Amino acid sequence: MSLKAQVGTLKLQTPLLLASGYITETPEFFLRARPYGCSGMVTRSLKQHVPSERSRITVPRYAVFGQDSMLNCEWGNEKPWTDWQDHGVRQVKETGCPVIISLSGRDLDSCCYLIRAFDEIGVDAYEINISCSHSGALHGNLNVDALHLEQLMKKVRGVTTTPIWIKLSYSNLLVPMAQQAEELGANAIVCTNSIGPGMLIDTKTAKPKLGIKGGGGGVTGKAIFPIALWCVHQLSETLSIPVVGCGGIFTADDAIQMLMAGASAVQLYTAPALKGPTVFRRVTAGLQRFLVENPKYASVEDIVGLTLHKTGDHQFSSPRPVVIKEKCTGCGICIQSCAFDALSMVRRVDERPLAVIDDNCISCNACVGVCPPKFDAIKASY
Ligand SMILES: Cc1cc2nc3c(=O)[nH]c(=O)nc-3n(C[C@H](O)[C@H](O)[C@H](O)COP(=O)(O)O)c2cc1C
Repeated sequence: MSLKAQVGTLKLQTPLLLASGYITETPEFFLRARPYGCSGMVTRSLKQHVPSERSRITVPRYAVFGQDSMLNCEWGNEKPWTDWQDHGVRQVKETGCPVIISLSGRDLDSCCYLIRAFDEIGVDAYEINISCSHSGALHGNLNVDALHLEQLMKKVRGVTTTPIWIKLSYSNLLVPMAQQAEELGANAIVCTNSIGPGMLIDTKTAKPKLGIKGGGGGVTGKAIFPIALWCVHQLSETLSIPVVGCGGIFTADDAIQMLMAGASAVQLYTAPALKGPTVFRRVTAGLQRFLVENPKYASVEDIVGLTLHKTGDHQFSSPRPVVIKEKCTGCGICIQSCAFDALSMVRRVDERPLAVIDDNCISCNACVGVCPPKFDAIKASY
């Protein structure tokens, strides 16, 4: 049973990486997550010069919603990029794990300057960020700017042979942008960054919850997981280069879905930021458990891409979901979810109620989703 993963030539002890953001301003958070199975890290997106406006922090800069999702309007760097040159890169390398330098892709000359500087000490890859949703809304959306991407790729490919990963976010142009990056020499696509901008309002003050001009921030965490998964699946079906999945991964099941969608590895940000570095222990343990329970997969690499080319046809047969009698507690939650009056509760001989599905059922499977996981009493129809 192996958890090893690989992104191009980059070898990883597990498929789990710490994504770029505030908690990767320094190596400290990674060093705490490392013993729990985090197998590499991406630095905060570094800039040679932080524009004066962005050296001042807007507040509030985070708004957490639904306990596992966030809106943020982070920008700039709070520490100089030279900290990574002086000691940060070395500290990560000493763990035997790769360090991926994230660079802001907005200022091309600075990007090349930083690549030359980091190539002198040697790093594992560059992840070039052209997809920050809130800075895109204020300063121009590079995520859909094919001309900028072309100029960027030509410049950076001209100065380094180190792997270049391009970080994109969801957009209507995701696939053509990624294809262009591949054609121009990108070694991997990372998807997705925060999605948005989005907004939240404090109803006590009627002001936006974030302090940035315009009030918009990037949405991350559980709220974006299905979109991120779709992006990874689309990219993996189209590209020849590896895809690194990111967005809303909290559990081993989330990570496995990303791998099945075609991701060679995954990155986590909001989960460790909100729940702490031990999130990696839970995800790693869950991956190991999955491989033990499914011995037909000898390794994580066997899971990668299992869902590719499985979505080409509609599925028309519609057997109904099935209530598992031994597991149903008669709690009745499923009845609330049924918009078609197809569920009712009957008394059993032992007097415990049991959910029953009748002919009104249209196989929408909403009841499967609402049955509490601890009961897991309604089996989906496939
Ligand atoms: C507070 C915060 C700061 C972030 N900063 C960066 C950044 O500097 N560069 C970058 O490429 N992505 C940044 N991200 C995006 C994350 O790396 C990641 O792509 C995104 O949050 C989706 O993953 P998640 O749902 O696991 O958080 C940031 C996200 C958050 C929440």
